[in-house]
Amino acid sequence: MKHLLSTRDLDRDTAVRILDIAEEMSRTADRAVRKLPTLRGKTVVNLFFEDSTRTRLSFESAAKRLSADVITFSAKGSSVSKGESLKDTAQTLEAMGADAIVVRHGVSGAAELLAHAGWIDATIVNAGDGTHEHPTQALLDAYTIRSRRFGDDARGRDLAGLRIVIVGDILHSRVARSNVWLLTALGAHVHLVAPRTLLPSGISTWPVTVHESLDDALDTGPDAVMMLRIQSERMHDAYFPSEREYAREWGLTAERATRLGPDTMVMHPGPMNRGLEISSVAADSPASTVLDQVSNGVFVRMAVLYLLVAGESQEES
Ligand code: CP
Repeated sequence: MKHLLSTRDLDRDTAVRILDIAEEMSRTADRAVRKLPTLRGKTVVNLFFEDSTRTRLSFESAAKRLSADVITFSAKGSSVSKGESLKDTAQTLEAMGADAIVVRHGVSGAAELLAHAGWIDATIVNAGDGTHEHPTQALLDAYTIRSRRFGDDARGRDLAGLRIVIVGDILHSRVARSNVWLLTALGAHVHLVAPRTLLPSGISTWPVTVHESLDDALDTGPDAVMMLRIQSERMHDAYFPSEREYAREWGLTAERATRLGPDTMVMHPGPMNRGLEISSVAADSPASTVLDQVSNGVFVRMAVLYLLVAGESQEES
Protein backbone atom coordinates (compact mmCIF):
# COMPACT_ATOMS: atom_id res chain seq x y z
CA MET A 1 0.00 0.00 0.00
CA LYS A 2 1.60 3.29 -1.09
CA HIS A 3 -1.25 5.73 -0.41
CA LEU A 4 -4.25 5.94 1.93
CA LEU A 5 -7.07 7.58 -0.05
CA SER A 6 -10.24 5.73 0.92
CA THR A 7 -11.34 3.12 3.44
CA ARG A 8 -12.87 1.26 0.47
CA ASP A 9 -9.29 0.13 -0.23
CA LEU A 10 -8.98 -1.57 3.18
CA ASP A 11 -10.07 -5.16 3.63
CA ARG A 12 -10.76 -6.61 7.07
CA ASP A 13 -7.24 -7.96 7.67
CA THR A 14 -5.48 -4.77 6.58
CA ALA A 15 -7.76 -2.67 8.79
CA VAL A 16 -7.21 -4.94 11.80
CA ARG A 17 -3.47 -4.77 11.20
CA ILE A 18 -3.52 -0.95 11.22
CA LEU A 19 -5.53 -0.99 14.47
CA ASP A 20 -3.08 -3.47 16.02
CA ILE A 21 -0.09 -1.32 15.06
CA ALA A 22 -1.88 1.72 16.51
CA GLU A 23 -2.27 -0.22 19.73
CA GLU A 24 1.46 -0.96 19.77
CA MET A 25 2.06 2.77 19.28
CA SER A 26 -0.18 3.57 22.23
CA ARG A 27 1.82 1.16 24.39
CA THR A 28 5.06 2.98 23.58
CA ALA A 29 3.37 6.18 24.78
CA ASP A 30 2.27 4.38 27.96
CA ARG A 31 5.90 3.43 28.55
CA ALA A 32 6.78 7.13 28.26
CA VAL A 33 8.82 6.51 25.09
CA ARG A 34 8.58 10.00 23.64
CA LYS A 35 9.99 9.23 20.20
CA LEU A 36 10.56 6.24 17.95
CA PRO A 37 13.34 6.48 15.34
CA THR A 38 11.19 4.90 12.59
CA LEU A 39 10.92 7.87 10.21
CA ARG A 40 14.27 9.54 10.92
CA GLY A 41 15.44 11.24 7.72
CA LYS A 42 11.91 11.31 6.21
CA THR A 43 9.86 14.45 5.63
CA VAL A 44 6.10 14.57 6.13
CA VAL A 45 4.25 17.60 4.74
CA ASN A 46 0.82 18.59 6.04
CA LEU A 47 -0.86 20.29 3.07
CA PHE A 48 -4.09 21.84 4.34
CA PHE A 49 -6.39 23.82 2.05
CA GLU A 50 -9.23 23.66 4.62
CA ASP A 51 -9.23 24.49 8.32
CA SER A 52 -8.46 21.78 10.85
CA THR A 53 -7.54 21.45 14.51
CA ARG A 54 -7.54 17.74 15.33
CA THR A 55 -6.36 16.18 12.06
CA ARG A 56 -3.56 18.62 11.32
CA LEU A 57 -2.18 18.67 14.85
CA SER A 58 -2.44 14.93 15.34
CA PHE A 59 -0.66 14.16 12.05
CA GLU A 60 2.01 16.63 13.14
CA SER A 61 2.31 14.97 16.54
CA ALA A 62 2.31 11.47 14.99
CA ALA A 63 5.06 12.31 12.49
CA LYS A 64 7.21 13.95 15.18
CA ARG A 65 6.80 10.98 17.51
CA LEU A 66 8.18 8.85 14.66
CA SER A 67 11.14 11.28 14.33
CA ALA A 68 10.15 12.60 10.89
CA ASP A 69 10.82 16.18 9.83
CA VAL A 70 7.46 17.94 9.55
CA ILE A 71 6.50 20.84 7.29
CA THR A 72 3.06 22.31 7.77
CA PHE A 73 1.51 24.19 4.86
CA SER A 74 -1.68 26.15 5.21
CA ALA A 75 -3.24 27.52 2.02
CA LYS A 76 -4.13 30.71 3.88
CA GLY A 77 -1.12 33.02 3.61
CA SER A 78 0.53 30.92 0.86
CA SER A 79 1.02 31.50 -2.87
CA VAL A 80 -2.29 29.68 -3.46
CA SER A 81 -3.85 33.14 -2.94
CA LYS A 82 -1.79 34.30 -5.97
CA GLY A 83 -3.34 31.55 -8.08
CA GLU A 84 -0.72 28.80 -7.73
CA SER A 85 -2.21 25.45 -8.79
CA LEU A 86 -2.44 22.23 -6.79
CA LYS A 87 0.09 20.63 -9.16
CA ASP A 88 2.66 23.43 -8.75
CA THR A 89 2.12 23.55 -4.99
CA ALA A 90 2.63 19.78 -4.67
CA GLN A 91 5.70 19.77 -6.91
CA THR A 92 7.18 22.64 -4.89
CA LEU A 93 6.70 20.66 -1.67
CA GLU A 94 8.22 17.53 -3.20
CA ALA A 95 11.21 19.60 -4.35
CA MET A 96 11.68 20.47 -0.66
CA GLY A 97 12.02 16.75 0.07
CA ALA A 98 8.49 15.58 0.94
CA ASP A 99 8.32 11.79 1.28
CA ALA A 100 4.66 11.92 2.28
CA ILE A 101 1.99 14.56 1.80
CA VAL A 102 -1.00 14.59 4.12
CA VAL A 103 -3.63 16.55 2.22
CA ARG A 104 -6.94 18.13 3.18
CA HIS A 105 -8.83 19.81 0.36
CA GLY A 106 -12.35 21.09 -0.23
CA VAL A 107 -12.68 19.23 -3.53
CA SER A 108 -13.75 15.57 -3.49
CA GLY A 109 -11.08 13.58 -5.34
CA ALA A 110 -8.18 15.98 -4.68
CA ALA A 111 -6.15 13.35 -2.80
CA GLU A 112 -6.75 10.79 -5.57
CA LEU A 113 -5.58 13.34 -8.14
CA LEU A 114 -2.34 14.01 -6.23
CA ALA A 115 -1.70 10.27 -5.89
CA HIS A 116 -2.36 9.30 -9.49
CA ALA A 117 -1.87 12.30 -11.79
CA GLY A 118 1.84 11.54 -12.15
CA TRP A 119 2.88 14.98 -10.88
CA ILE A 120 4.78 13.69 -7.83
CA ASP A 121 6.09 10.42 -6.36
CA ALA A 122 5.36 11.11 -2.69
CA THR A 123 3.00 8.98 -0.62
CA ILE A 124 -0.41 10.65 -0.29
CA VAL A 125 -2.58 10.42 2.82
CA ASN A 126 -6.12 11.75 2.49
CA ALA A 127 -6.90 13.95 5.51
CA GLY A 128 -10.38 14.80 4.18
CA ASP A 129 -11.43 15.65 0.60
CA GLY A 130 -14.66 17.55 0.14
CA THR A 131 -17.65 15.37 0.97
CA HIS A 132 -15.83 12.22 -0.16
CA GLU A 133 -13.68 10.55 2.53
CA HIS A 134 -11.69 11.01 5.74
CA PRO A 135 -10.08 7.58 6.17
CA THR A 136 -7.92 8.23 9.23
CA GLN A 137 -10.97 9.59 11.09
CA ALA A 138 -12.79 6.31 10.43
CA LEU A 139 -9.73 4.30 11.53
CA LEU A 140 -9.49 6.22 14.81
CA ASP A 141 -13.24 5.78 15.33
CA ALA A 142 -12.94 2.01 14.78
CA TYR A 143 -9.92 1.91 17.09
CA THR A 144 -11.86 3.77 19.79
CA ILE A 145 -14.87 1.45 19.53
CA ARG A 146 -12.66 -1.66 19.62
CA SER A 147 -10.62 -0.44 22.51
CA ARG A 148 -13.62 0.62 24.64
CA ARG A 149 -15.47 -2.61 23.90
CA PHE A 150 -12.61 -5.12 24.25
CA GLY A 151 -10.00 -3.34 26.41
CA ASP A 152 -6.83 -5.41 26.80
CA ASP A 153 -8.31 -8.16 24.58
CA ALA A 154 -8.72 -5.89 21.55
CA ARG A 155 -5.67 -7.04 19.60
CA GLY A 156 -6.49 -9.02 16.44
CA ARG A 157 -10.24 -8.40 16.80
CA ASP A 158 -12.67 -6.85 14.37
CA LEU A 159 -16.09 -5.33 15.16
CA ALA A 160 -18.23 -8.30 14.08
CA GLY A 161 -21.83 -8.02 15.23
CA LEU A 162 -21.53 -4.55 16.77
CA ARG A 163 -24.30 -2.08 15.94
CA ILE A 164 -23.19 1.46 15.15
CA VAL A 165 -25.69 4.27 14.62
CA ILE A 166 -24.40 7.32 12.67
CA VAL A 167 -26.62 10.38 12.93
CA GLY A 168 -26.92 13.66 11.09
CA ASP A 169 -25.60 15.39 8.01
CA ILE A 170 -24.80 12.25 6.01
CA LEU A 171 -25.14 14.18 2.75
CA HIS A 172 -22.01 16.26 3.35
CA SER A 173 -20.11 13.92 5.65
CA ARG A 174 -16.82 12.39 4.54
CA VAL A 175 -16.59 10.93 8.06
CA ALA A 176 -19.83 9.01 7.49
CA ARG A 177 -18.70 7.65 4.13
CA SER A 178 -15.32 6.45 5.40
CA ASN A 179 -16.98 4.92 8.46
CA VAL A 180 -19.61 3.08 6.44
CA TRP A 181 -16.97 1.29 4.33
CA LEU A 182 -14.57 0.62 7.19
CA LEU A 183 -17.03 -0.44 9.89
CA THR A 184 -18.76 -2.74 7.40
CA ALA A 185 -15.42 -4.30 6.38
CA LEU A 186 -14.82 -4.93 10.09
CA GLY A 187 -18.14 -6.76 10.40
CA ALA A 188 -20.25 -4.11 12.15
CA HIS A 189 -23.88 -3.33 11.28
CA VAL A 190 -24.17 0.35 10.36
CA HIS A 191 -27.41 2.31 10.79
CA LEU A 192 -27.72 5.82 9.36
CA VAL A 193 -30.17 8.40 10.66
CA ALA A 194 -30.92 11.75 9.00
CA PRO A 195 -33.67 14.01 7.78
CA ARG A 196 -34.53 12.88 4.26
CA THR A 197 -32.99 16.04 2.81
CA LEU A 198 -29.59 15.26 4.35
CA LEU A 199 -29.27 11.78 2.83
CA PRO A 200 -27.27 11.40 -0.41
CA SER A 201 -28.87 10.05 -3.54
CA GLY A 202 -27.75 6.47 -4.13
CA ILE A 203 -27.90 5.61 -0.44
CA SER A 204 -30.01 2.53 -1.27
CA THR A 205 -26.84 0.91 -2.65
CA TRP A 206 -24.89 1.42 0.61
CA PRO A 207 -24.54 -1.55 2.99
CA VAL A 208 -26.54 0.16 5.75
CA THR A 209 -29.98 0.38 7.36
CA VAL A 210 -31.49 3.87 7.02
CA HIS A 211 -33.84 5.47 9.57
CA GLU A 212 -35.52 8.83 9.53
CA SER A 213 -36.36 8.69 13.24
CA LEU A 214 -33.48 8.84 15.73
CA ASP A 215 -35.67 7.34 18.43
CA ASP A 216 -36.39 4.29 16.23
CA ALA A 217 -32.64 3.84 15.61
CA LEU A 218 -31.82 4.14 19.30
CA ASP A 219 -34.43 1.45 20.04
CA THR A 220 -32.19 -1.03 18.15
CA GLY A 221 -29.79 -0.99 21.15
CA PRO A 222 -26.62 0.36 19.55
CA ASP A 223 -23.10 -0.23 20.85
CA ALA A 224 -22.14 3.26 19.70
CA VAL A 225 -23.98 6.39 18.57
CA MET A 226 -21.86 8.65 16.38
CA MET A 227 -23.21 12.19 16.07
CA LEU A 228 -22.06 14.14 13.00
CA ARG A 229 -21.40 17.85 12.77
CA ILE A 230 -23.98 19.85 10.83
CA GLN A 231 -21.83 21.28 8.02
CA SER A 232 -23.44 24.69 7.54
CA GLU A 233 -20.56 25.77 5.27
CA ARG A 234 -21.47 23.04 2.74
CA MET A 235 -25.25 23.43 3.03
CA HIS A 236 -25.61 25.70 -0.08
CA ASP A 237 -28.93 24.66 -1.60
CA ALA A 238 -29.71 21.70 0.67
CA TYR A 239 -32.91 22.13 2.68
CA PHE A 240 -32.04 22.09 6.33
CA PRO A 241 -34.67 21.92 9.08
CA SER A 242 -34.62 24.86 11.49
CA GLU A 243 -31.96 24.46 14.18
CA ARG A 244 -34.65 24.08 16.82
CA GLU A 245 -36.39 21.33 14.82
CA TYR A 246 -33.08 19.58 14.08
CA ALA A 247 -31.99 19.56 17.74
CA ARG A 248 -35.39 18.24 18.81
CA GLU A 249 -35.73 15.49 16.19
CA TRP A 250 -32.14 14.47 15.39
CA GLY A 251 -30.04 15.83 18.24
CA LEU A 252 -28.64 13.73 21.09
CA THR A 253 -30.49 15.77 23.71
CA ALA A 254 -29.94 15.33 27.44
CA GLU A 255 -33.22 13.40 27.61
CA ARG A 256 -32.24 11.00 24.79
CA ALA A 257 -28.80 10.49 26.34
CA THR A 258 -30.41 9.18 29.54
CA ARG A 259 -32.23 6.51 27.49
CA LEU A 260 -29.03 4.99 26.04
CA GLY A 261 -27.87 1.60 27.28
CA PRO A 262 -25.23 1.59 30.04
CA ASP A 263 -22.45 0.55 27.62
CA THR A 264 -23.47 2.63 24.61
CA MET A 265 -20.63 4.89 23.50
CA VAL A 266 -21.37 8.49 22.52
CA MET A 267 -19.05 9.54 19.70
CA HIS A 268 -18.42 12.72 17.73
CA PRO A 269 -15.51 13.41 15.34
CA GLY A 270 -15.42 17.10 16.34
CA PRO A 271 -15.70 19.99 16.11
CA MET A 272 -19.05 19.81 17.91
CA ASN A 273 -22.02 22.16 17.60
CA ARG A 274 -23.13 21.85 21.22
CA GLY A 275 -26.86 22.29 21.60
CA LEU A 276 -27.49 21.40 17.95
CA GLU A 277 -26.45 17.83 17.09
CA ILE A 278 -25.27 17.01 20.63
CA SER A 279 -26.10 18.33 24.10
CA SER A 280 -23.37 19.13 26.58
CA VAL A 281 -24.87 16.52 28.91
CA ALA A 282 -24.17 13.83 26.27
CA ALA A 283 -20.82 15.24 25.09
CA ASP A 284 -19.41 15.47 28.62
CA SER A 285 -20.90 12.24 30.00
CA PRO A 286 -18.82 9.19 31.01
CA ALA A 287 -20.20 7.47 27.89
CA SER A 288 -18.57 10.08 25.66
CA THR A 289 -15.47 9.01 23.72
CA VAL A 290 -14.88 12.44 22.15
CA LEU A 291 -11.51 13.09 23.80
CA ASP A 292 -10.45 9.43 23.54
CA GLN A 293 -11.02 9.77 19.78
CA VAL A 294 -8.62 12.71 19.72
CA SER A 295 -5.94 10.86 21.72
CA ASN A 296 -6.36 7.69 19.67
CA GLY A 297 -6.03 9.71 16.46
CA VAL A 298 -2.34 10.23 17.15
CA PHE A 299 -1.68 6.47 17.51
CA VAL A 300 -3.70 5.60 14.41
CA ARG A 301 -1.89 8.23 12.35
CA MET A 302 1.46 6.95 13.67
CA ALA A 303 0.42 3.49 12.45
CA VAL A 304 -0.58 4.80 9.02
CA LEU A 305 2.64 6.79 8.56
CA TYR A 306 4.67 3.81 9.78
CA LEU A 307 3.05 1.48 7.25
CA LEU A 308 3.17 3.88 4.31
CA VAL A 309 6.34 5.91 4.82
CA ALA A 310 8.67 3.48 6.57
CA GLY A 311 7.91 1.08 3.72
CA GLU A 312 7.01 -1.76 6.05
CA SER A 313 3.94 -2.70 4.00
CA GLN A 314 5.88 -2.68 0.70
CA GLU A 315 8.55 -4.97 2.17
CA GLU A 316 5.91 -7.53 3.10
CA SER A 317 4.00 -7.49 -0.18
N1 CP B 1 -12.51 15.49 12.99
C1 CP B 1 -11.81 16.38 12.25
O1 CP B 1 -11.47 16.15 11.09
O2 CP B 1 -11.54 17.53 12.93
P1 CP B 1 -10.69 18.74 12.34
O3 CP B 1 -11.51 19.37 11.24
O4 CP B 1 -10.48 19.68 13.51
O5 CP B 1 -9.41 18.19 11.79
